[in-house]
Amino acid sequence: MIGWLYDLLSRRAEHGELGERRGALVAGLEGDILEVGAGTGANLRHYKRAARVVALEPDASMARRLPPKVAEAAVPVEVLRGSLDALPFPAATFDAVVSTFVLCSVEEPGRALGEIYRVLRPGGQLVVLEHVRGKGRLARWQELFTPLHRRLAGNCHLNRDTRSEIGQAGFDAGGVRAVRIPGSHPLVRAGIQGEATRISS
Ligand SMILES: C[S@@+](CC[C@H](N)C(=O)[O-])C[C@H]1O[C@@H](n2cnc3c(N)ncnc32)[C@H](O)[C@@H]1O
Repeated sequence: MIGWLYDLLSRRAEHGELGERRGALVAGLEGDILEVGAGTGANLRHYKRAARVVALEPDASMARRLPPKVAEAAVPVEVLRGSLDALPFPAATFDAVVSTFVLCSVEEPGRALGEIYRVLRPGGQLVVLEHVRGKGRLARWQELFTPLHRRLAGNCHLNRDTRSEIGQAGFDAGGVRAVRIPGSHPLVRAGIQGEATRISS
């Protein structure tokens, strides 16, 4: 994905309702936080209480835009190159993992969610804001446009049922609710937002 284009296209939404949503999701997070697919760093200015944030991003064009956001963050942020296919951390390292608009793009969501589960401490939270498969006619349009959208937008699938995938990975997804994604085109307007809990064992 091209970092500068991503920032240009999302600028208006980020300074409006989308930015407010991000703040509501991450401002109160405490302890050790992993943000996966941190992109160009749109969430970083919203962390207020974390002891540290590890921002993981595999794409050089996106990661190149992180340093100024890291410098302005209110909490310590460490940037790492890495992928959800195999997270470079021991089990039970983090209190929360943040994923915003990432699970639509990974090659294998089940595997990625398994990795997130592994690195979370028991009782830890997966915090998500993701666009997902809609219902009825919208779902049919999403099926139709997904192959093209994947090619144009960094493997982004329009048709994923990410809430079900989160439940299948073993999380308690009771805190994840259906939302409308602000400032987005109709094919990515159906979304989910909230916290899924890694069940203690
Ligand atoms: C649409 S962008 C979202 C960026 C950022 N999270 C945000 O909310 O603006 C999707 C991001 O997911 C990242 N991504 C794609 N596949 C990934 C993987 N397997 N592991 C980690 N990140 C991945 C991309 O590099 C990209 O930065």
